[in-house]
Amino acid sequence: MKVDLEIDLFEEIKKLKKEKNAVLLAHYYQNADIQDIADYIGDSLGLSQQAAKTEADIIIFAGVHFMAETAKILSPSKKVILPDLKAGCSLADSCPPDKFSEFKNSHPNHLVISYVNCSAAIKTMTDIVCTSSNAEKIVESLPKDQKIIFAPDKNLGAYINKKTERNMVLWDGACMVHEIFSLEKILKIKLKHPEAELLAHPECEAAILDIADYIGSTTGILNYATKSNTKEFIVATETGIIHQMEKAAPFKTFIPAPPNNSCACNDCPHMKLNTLEKLYICLRDESPEIKLEKVIIEQAVKPINKMLELSAKFGL
Ligand code: 13P
Ligand code: SF4
Repeated sequence: MKVDLEIDLFEEIKKLKKEKNAVLLAHYYQNADIQDIADYIGDSLGLSQQAAKTEADIIIFAGVHFMAETAKILSPSKKVILPDLKAGCSLADSCPPDKFSEFKNSHPNHLVISYVNCSAAIKTMTDIVCTSSNAEKIVESLPKDQKIIFAPDKNLGAYINKKTERNMVLWDGACMVHEIFSLEKILKIKLKHPEAELLAHPECEAAILDIADYIGSTTGILNYATKSNTKEFIVATETGIIHQMEKAAPFKTFIPAPPNNSCACNDCPHMKLNTLEKLYICLRDESPEIKLEKVIIEQAVKPINKMLELSAKFGL
């Protein structure tokens, strides 16, 4: 799948987007070059909102499979393409539909809230979808005595339980990227940079969240760092976000929080499967395409629309 090395991928992608009336939506965890050519860069909520309202004929999704699938569910008449179909998500994979169905059946009278990082099949078994930027507000909007199953991220679920003083039943899933930040190494960085604020995504484990100065979605982290008077930050989420942070606040320092292995920073191997070259080929060939059965779309769109309605009500 190599392309002619002589071509200017940036220019060719721009040309193809225009010719085909395609919109390029990219998550903050994408490589910097993909972010730089995107029409919209955002977190999971922002990307869903864009996918729902776009007038483009083709959505090229620079993100992972569940994100492109969500775009297809929201805009079924559009062609949705993903540069690498293998760009999955360990968190989504940690919740197989057959096992989740059994889990749900063993908790009757529970409302199901699912983090958007799950498959379309899980969304069909869900009452309300949420993202990291609206989960707390969505849970808060429900009566205190409402029984809730929260899936698939146990770390986000435990964090929301604590914030909202609830006792939601949690599915035992987690993200491979956010689960392996090293508390010990972060504490060492904090000793060297006593002024630095720790910014953490709520998919991190409780031990990291307990010492964080700010907890929020990727958009939340970016906005906080831009507005804060602090000059140094330790960033406990996937490193792709640092590209936008450095653009928004070029005189500030962003230190990626290290994982508990030999790496200095934490890349999502799924997100990073997308490359500019694959993106070009995908747009040129309009493939690989996300295809979903009509019945799945009809079921899965309900809890996603519920999330979008609530988010609009909350002003998100
Ligand atoms: P956001 O909701 O911040 O986009 O998070 C998405 C994600 O995959 C985090 O791992
Ligand atoms: Fe999934 Fe984690 Fe990668 Fe986000 S960072 S896409 S949750 S594996």
